[in-house]
Amino acid sequence: MQQSEQEQQKEQVIAQNEIPDLIINPYEVVNNSKKQIDYDKLIQSFGCQRIEQTHLDRIQALTQKPVHHYLRRGIFFSHRDLNQVLDAYEAGKGFYLYTGRGPSGESMHVGHLMPFIFTKYLQEAFDVPVVIELSDDEKFFHKSETTLEEYQRYGYENAKDIIACGFDVNKTFIFLSSQYAGHMYHNICKFQHAITYSQLRGIFGLNESDNCGKVAYPAVQAAPSLSSSFKHIFGKDEVMCLVPQGIDQDPYFRMTRDVCYKLKVPKTGCIHSQFLPGLHGFGTKMGTTDPTSAIFLTDTAKEIEEKIKKHALSGGGMTKKEHQEKGADLTVDVPYHYLRFFLEDDARLEEIRVQYGKGVMMTSEVKKELINVITKIVTEHQQRRALVTDEIVQKFMELRPLSNYPPKKNN
Ligand code: TYM
Repeated sequence: MQQSEQEQQKEQVIAQNEIPDLIINPYEVVNNSKKQIDYDKLIQSFGCQRIEQTHLDRIQALTQKPVHHYLRRGIFFSHRDLNQVLDAYEAGKGFYLYTGRGPSGESMHVGHLMPFIFTKYLQEAFDVPVVIELSDDEKFFHKSETTLEEYQRYGYENAKDIIACGFDVNKTFIFLSSQYAGHMYHNICKFQHAITYSQLRGIFGLNESDNCGKVAYPAVQAAPSLSSSFKHIFGKDEVMCLVPQGIDQDPYFRMTRDVCYKLKVPKTGCIHSQFLPGLHGFGTKMGTTDPTSAIFLTDTAKEIEEKIKKHALSGGGMTKKEHQEKGADLTVDVPYHYLRFFLEDDARLEEIRVQYGKGVMMTSEVKKELINVITKIVTEHQQRRALVTDEIVQKFMELRPLSNYPPKKNN
């Protein structure tokens, strides 16, 4: 069932969220509250839906696999039309996954990795095709710090990190938008035709001195949501699309869904993740301008240890006595929050929550646990990345059918 006219209107009207102390859009994530973002309010404000236990049960039943800890812990917390995507899968029509990365620099941080780790889980669990956009054009228009050619190079470098997450080359297509756009230009035109400049201004806050590329780009991020943008994979079939993404990307897909409705094609499904904050606290973000704000995929074990020890904001007491009396404030504690994202063992995480919350466990012990978990993830990632050659990247970028489309009848 598609949305009612009224729900459709609500999605269009709510372009910006209206929560005090919070700005979330593709170009700015600012949380001035110093605490975890209120995701319930955000769901209301954006007009999306919370992922419920019923979705988890359904995914587990359909895939016959335990659901990912990002779903179990509500880290992927919200969606649009997830049930419609699962219906298509259940009916044997299948669906495909679409996600992306804006290659703003050579190295990515652990926050960037999350949608890719999750997409890889979905790819394995459902055995569906994956398409990945590297939006070098977006970064050229918006950051303008270097040449388009350099953003393309970053795109190739980032592709190596993405491939190192374990995507199957026979089931995954990666493309640079500045190179592939011609193949989906018919759909880019349809999006550009259906959106007015004033709508774009409302959604993305553009103004008259912005370059034209910023106005043109949103259609380039929208077009891969239509299966007809990938004729080498789907031929003439109309296949539903599900987009795993950080919640900051939702404005692009609100716009996309609005146009799908006008084009009378199935609306793009979305599944959103919470935002991983910077090491300095919930009100901070990760970025290259301050290397101590984030763990990068290029960091050494020593750098990871130092960053977490010195810079990860603790919610523990100021003194040992105070900590033992009052326990840690987990609502502001960054090491515990990072463990929620990266420690897979539910029982151990719960033990830490209880013991640290009571003040039995000290901040230094929790940080040590985080150092071990993140160092393992990053060093194993680096080992896999070292094996990704330019030839392998080319293979992922070749126009070809994918082995898991059309879906097998027993799906
Ligand atoms: P980019 O490169 O800013 O981010 C890539 C993906 O990582 C997510 N992300 C985060 N998730 C959790 N915590 C964080 N701290 C964090 N920082 C970034 C983003 O939400 C995104 O999912 N315009 C996009 C590129 C793009 C795209 C797409 C993304 C093109 N097509 C389709 C998603 C789906 C961008 O600049 O992402």
